[in-house]
Amino acid sequence: MRHYSRLDRLLTETQHALDVLCNQTSHPPARPNPAEAYPESQALSPAERAHIAALMRVNHTGEICAQALYRGQALFVRSPSTREHLHQAAREEHDHLLWCQARLITLDAHTSWLNGFWYSASFKIGVIASLLGDDWSEGFVLETERQVESHLDQHLKDIPSQDLKTLAILKKMREDEILHGDAAHARGARPLPRWVRALMRAQSKVMTRLAYWI
Ligand SMILES: [Fe+2]
Ligand SMILES: [Fe+2]
Repeated sequence: MRHYSRLDRLLTETQHALDVLCNQTSHPPARPNPAEAYPESQALSPAERAHIAALMRVNHTGEICAQALYRGQALFVRSPSTREHLHQAAREEHDHLLWCQARLITLDAHTSWLNGFWYSASFKIGVIASLLGDDWSEGFVLETERQVESHLDQHLKDIPSQDLKTLAILKKMREDEILHGDAAHARGARPLPRWVRALMRAQSKVMTRLAYWI
């Protein structure tokens, strides 16, 4: 097995961050986009399309944060199996990222202009979590996935029922996020202190409010 030096890892992470932030598709999704199975709705008003696009921009930024969080965590976790679990989750989140990006393109909408800031902030949180220990890392995964799940529940109610494409993406994402959370729980996730969970919720609220508009 090849040994990666710190410089190798740093360069790999820099390349990954640039790929993600420049909306590069050098790594195509591993799974088909669930939206492809459904026709585009012709019944959406311009206001509805704008609202859906804004929600998908929020979801896209959430996936940017997930990439950064899990890649940051994978850098310093101690156990190879925890690292593999994080990389596997990051690969699935990468599918989510590309599906959200594809939906934004079909809705003629842009990704958030603040994604660089959110990537950097989430990557740092991931590094800190991994330095605390693998059980803390899994605890951050579990809490993140639970918060994303409830946020997706809300979006599934907000998206107009005739927009089958967006609904298909969000339903599949929700399924995956539940499995990621369950896997973290099974791997001994440490319950996070109440104040940490509150801080994560507050950060998520700021992110979702900003990404809706910019
Ligand atoms: Fe995701
Ligand atoms: Fe996830």
